[in-house]
Amino acid sequence: MFRQPETEFMNLSAEAEAYAAADFAEVNEAFVARLLELAGDRADAVALDLGTGPGDMPIRIVRQRPGWRIVAVDASFAMLRLARRAIAEAGASHVVVPVQTDAKGCPFLSGAFDIIFSNSIVHHITDVAAFWNEVKRLAKPGGHILLRDLSRPPSPEAARRIVETYAAHESPLLQEEFYRSLLSAYTPDEVRTQLDAAGLEGLSVVMSSDRHWDVFSVA
Ligand SMILES: C[S@@+](CC[C@H](N)C(=O)[O-])C[C@H]1O[C@@H](n2cnc3c(N)ncnc32)[C@H](O)[C@@H]1O
Repeated sequence: MFRQPETEFMNLSAEAEAYAAADFAEVNEAFVARLLELAGDRADAVALDLGTGPGDMPIRIVRQRPGWRIVAVDASFAMLRLARRAIAEAGASHVVVPVQTDAKGCPFLSGAFDIIFSNSIVHHITDVAAFWNEVKRLAKPGGHILLRDLSRPPSPEAARRIVETYAAHESPLLQEEFYRSLLSAYTPDEVRTQLDAAGLEGLSVVMSSDRHWDVFSVA
């Protein structure tokens, strides 16, 4: 099945609010566990979350690693407004800093981040070369990287089955967004080609569930 790109930034308030209201606790907790496993026991780090959405990942991380400082970027004003509120309500404003910027061109110094992570952003992006080049530029040499996203299923029918299996209890809007995200996603083979083109050979790509791939740095 060919990729059918969806809109890059989640700029609509209704879309951002539906996403923020969904229950991603289990998958987000699993992502955080994998990131902390990769990062080992380091108590302090400067980390970057690309496409933070409502900010749930960085909030979960600093609960477990209060010494980390996390810059949480998103290009969508509507999403960042929700993230700012959630970060403040979690009492994490001193350690999680939301920044509105395009992940394909961040206003940060090269090599600024010990850790770069991201969940569910790559399927939004069509100019993937610009995105991966930015990941490469911003990572400190020897730093840790974990990016997770959906993998495009072989057919629209397979995508529908995934939505029914994992999102039957969600709102019709969220189910439709999930379906469109699956159609817009990249396969692990496509991601491997993108990483090689960006000179990111030190990263592995593996399927981490029946619908996700992970890109991560190998120690
Ligand atoms: C599906 S949400 C995922 C949010 C969050 N990472 C999570 O796991 O809950 C994708 C987010 O990436 C943002 N996004 C997409 N393309 C982006 C870009 N080029 N730069 C910054 N943010 C982007 C969207 O606005 C949206 O908030």
